[in-house]
Amino acid sequence: MKILVTGGAGFIGSHTVVELHEAGFEPVILDNLYNSNREVLNGIKGITGKDFPFYEIDCNDIEKVRAVFEKEKFDGVIHFAAYKAVGESVEKPLNYYENNIISLLVLLKVMKEYNVDKFVFSSSCTVYGQPDALPVTESTPRKPANSPYGNTKAIAEDIIRDHVHSAPGIKAISLRYFNPIGAHKTSLIGELPNGVPSNLVPFITQTAAGLRKSLTVFGSDYDTADGTCVRDFIHVVDLAKAHLKALQLLDAQTEKNYYDVFNVGTGQGYTVLELINTFEKVSGEKLNYSIGPRREGDVEKIYAQSDKVNSVMKWTAEKTMADALLDAWNWQLKITPKK
Ligand code: WQD
Repeated sequence: MKILVTGGAGFIGSHTVVELHEAGFEPVILDNLYNSNREVLNGIKGITGKDFPFYEIDCNDIEKVRAVFEKEKFDGVIHFAAYKAVGESVEKPLNYYENNIISLLVLLKVMKEYNVDKFVFSSSCTVYGQPDALPVTESTPRKPANSPYGNTKAIAEDIIRDHVHSAPGIKAISLRYFNPIGAHKTSLIGELPNGVPSNLVPFITQTAAGLRKSLTVFGSDYDTADGTCVRDFIHVVDLAKAHLKALQLLDAQTEKNYYDVFNVGTGQGYTVLELINTFEKVSGEKLNYSIGPRREGDVEKIYAQSDKVNSVMKWTAEKTMADALLDAWNWQLKITPKK
């Protein structure tokens, strides 16, 4: 199956391209390199030995997207391409709504024009807001997201659901990610945020590598075991593999207007301090950090109940948080210029 991977040069996208290839799929990468660079394509080639077709295109440009569909006969689409920084979305909501929603509409329209019927969407646990009960299941009611970023994911899910029900020719799955961390075991691809990382783990590895002075832990007065936030940290390679399972489920699906959502997490919550302690153990580095004020928009604690993805897709996280932190550290050591 030939699969269009939008955002395929990004963190989760690049790891998914590798796993698609290794499972016998034919990935095609479409990315505007807004939050990535061509070096990632070399990393993918280093792992797979392949130069996959790459289109440096913005998903909002319907004419250019159409031209790609004209040229490549796709069997399915995995849509990662979106702005994803929670804090930035609070500062620039219109950019987030425009980019994340328009790109989705463009893809769904062009897929319909070219009769491409399998769609996997990159959603997020942020659609749950701060859940009343934990772990969250897919029937946990969605709450107003704490950020415009999270809201674009919730709106996108509604658009996909309504489109699938109106246009029975398409089958779709939304995967609600928890916190993707780690890197490929070869250290040829990993998380490479442009500028100052907003996510926890790249900030930790850059601090340990001496690129940042110190990590600030955003709040230690939450109602948790040690006062810091709880998250469900999932290895990016495990997450990538969940996308293959989703495609296979869609391919086998006979229901014409099938749409469903799945939590993709480990089912285990850890605090920020527990993650830091684990990082220090696996890396042998003493991390320089201090406790600061809470970050606006942060959810206190969230982690997944992943029974549904386990049973329906036969997918379970195989790697631990320690595995992911060691892979992230090895990746950081690979990309950090030697002093
Ligand atoms: C995790 C925890 C912070 C940085 C968001 C999106 C989610 C996904 C991942 C895309 C929080 C704390 C962080 C720092 C800290 N996005 N932290 N110091 O906000 O849980 O999730 O990014 O895939 O959809 O919502 O991730 O890594 O920013 O924060 O203490 O310098 O680490 O307060 O408790 P988050 P994060």
